[in-house]
Amino acid sequence: MKLNQRQEQLLKRTFLDYQQTTEFVKNPLIVHKADGLYYWDVEGKRYFDGIGGIFVATLGHRHPRIIAAMQRQMETLSFVPSMHGIADVTLDFIEKLGGVTPGNLNYIKPYSGGSESIESAIKFTRQYFKQSGKPGKYKFISRYLGYHGATFGAMAASGTGKRKTGFEPQMGGFLKVFPPTYYRERFDSWEACNRFCAQMFEDVIINEDPDTVAGIIIEPIGNTGGIITPTVEYF
Ligand SMILES: Cc1ncc(COP(=O)(O)O)c(C=O)c1O
Repeated sequence: MKLNQRQEQLLKRTFLDYQQTTEFVKNPLIVHKADGLYYWDVEGKRYFDGIGGIFVATLGHRHPRIIAAMQRQMETLSFVPSMHGIADVTLDFIEKLGGVTPGNLNYIKPYSGGSESIESAIKFTRQYFKQSGKPGKYKFISRYLGYHGATFGAMAASGTGKRKTGFEPQMGGFLKVFPPTYYRERFDSWEACNRFCAQMFEDVIINEDPDTVAGIIIEPIGNTGGIITPTVEYF
């Protein structure tokens, strides 16, 4: 799309995640509206939103039930300072979400985005080991090609090479293994390749000293390295 002078000047005064503005203005995208499965840019060109706004608008854009629920909530309560209290509607959410998550994965802290959630998972885990007598357990293992967000902890957990080098040194305590696509041409089957790649987690844990490893962070289905769906056995 073509930028007018005002748009170009304003674009140069803001920032996108992981993209140089000078590159972005050569091939820009300014979105004006969305509906259902589609976006429209400011020139009226329509785009099919094949990944639901990076999995955020998975129920489609402008869903009438979502709009109605948001309006109802805004008219009742628009903000509670999270250091001092919690909204009753948040408890409803915890009940509902906790009712569909598997096993005992029903301890829930709501956040507004992915990066913030990963930061908090890192913090909760480190805090848990500090408070339960294992303060030396602080390392995380994640995967090359994985993406967990743009904040510092989430970026350290991500394995997206060049995207991160502009911000180095990264936060310490983050180790990487390869995703289950690694060396796949050397294996006779997808299952064998997955088994090998899952084994890498154990190898790293043993060699790092298990008493220093706090957790692993992986996407159930990888995205940035291609849509990678591991075997059930891998997990
Ligand atoms: C798996 C995963 N984790 C975390 C994030 C970061 O989420 P956010 O952009 O909401 O901070 C993304 C974003 O695409 C993601 O795909």
